Amino acid sequence: MSSIYIHIPFCSQVCHYCDFHKSASLKEKDRMHKAIIKEIELQKSFLKSKQLDTIYFGGGTPSVYEIEKIEEIINTIEKYWDISDNAEISFEANPDDLKPEYIDKLAKSKINRLSIGIQSFNDDELKFMNRRHNSQEAIRAINLAQEKAFDNISIDLIYGLPNSNIKTWEKSLNKAFELNIQHISAYHLSIEENTVFAFKKSKSLIKEIDENLSFEQYKLLKKMSKEHGFINYEVSNFAIQDYHSKHNSNYWKQNEYLGIGPSAHSYNMESRYWNVNNNKSYLEYIEKNSLNFESEKLSDIDRYNEYIMCSLRTIWGIDTNYIFSMFSDNIYQQFKEIINKYKDTDLMENYDKSKFRLTEKGIFISNELISNFFILD
Ligand SMILES: C[S@@+](CC[C@H](N)C(=O)[O-])C[C@H]1O[C@@H](n2cnc3c(N)ncnc32)[C@H](O)[C@@H]1O
Ligand code: SF4
Repeated sequence: MSSIYIHIPFCSQVCHYCDFHKSASLKEKDRMHKAIIKEIELQKSFLKSKQLDTIYFGGGTPSVYEIEKIEEIINTIEKYWDISDNAEISFEANPDDLKPEYIDKLAKSKINRLSIGIQSFNDDELKFMNRRHNSQEAIRAINLAQEKAFDNISIDLIYGLPNSNIKTWEKSLNKAFELNIQHISAYHLSIEENTVFAFKKSKSLIKEIDENLSFEQYKLLKKMSKEHGFINYEVSNFAIQDYHSKHNSNYWKQNEYLGIGPSAHSYNMESRYWNVNNNKSYLEYIEKNSLNFESEKLSDIDRYNEYIMCSLRTIWGIDTNYIFSMFSDNIYQQFKEIINKYKDTDLMENYDKSKFRLTEKGIFISNELISNFFILD
């Protein structure tokens, strides 16, 4: 399995929680488009495989671009790779960009999966987050996409918001499940440095939610998604059967991928690469036919830690046989000591012969728990 990720580093408006790489000035949009096309050409030999199984347009906000530009990017990719017949081609879109004419063109393009950033169906929460849409616009965008025959729609939601409670979250979830979508990514709010929320928190203008309350919200999410036939296949991801994100699963399985655009990451099974997260510098380098990136060669321990980090977040969990066969005896012995500490607790379950995964309780404290499995160099 091989994948390409395209990072579109622009947003029409910056949300108060978000620290993803983006610029709120769209001045360099056309120049960036040309640079992205050029980077694809410069990187045409990066992947071992000539066959692509997934392409993902993320950001920032890919829907700031006209569909013609997105199609030009896909056509450039097709010059150098064969896109599998059943490839998943995902596109992140903000609801306010999904106007009828835009969705019409999207539906005629090769994009077959939409990921729409809804965040909440409560208007006061949307305002609080500085989103550009309200709940009615969000519902209209989803309905329109469905009318245009999109049958693989994911939405992003955020819980654990300051001032939210079980009722506000239940309202968002009820709306989400009413809409007959196939996938939900639900993230616990994380207050990141250099965001408006971080500033407000430092001035005591907002207060982080009580952990017990957000655990209740998470439990409600698990309960309602189960009732509606969704599988919680990764900590933050829920899908009906066969609609899990193939692109993200490819990352978790440690297969190769190429990231294009400022701040995008790539992996070739040996090293990890990350492009500069600065639009100006990215453009200047590409325009001189060169790339501005950093890289790191992964040691056996790095690869083990990444396997743990990705696998323990999924329902497929970790396989002790895989660790035994893929890593050194030293790593395997250290891993066994750690798993022995947890295997009989209510944080972990041995769900199938050599396979272990986190329980519901374990998943909620997954970051802390997973870091206890890491081995230090
Ligand atoms: C890279 S963003 C791009 C999506 C698209 N631009 C949009 O906003 O609709 C992907 C998702 O990450 C989530 N996200 C971003 N920052 C977050 C934060 N600090 N805490 C929780 N979720 C966050 C949001 O749900 C967002 O939709
Ligand atoms: S959440 Fe999406 S729209 Fe908002 S700032 Fe982040 S990338 Fe941009």
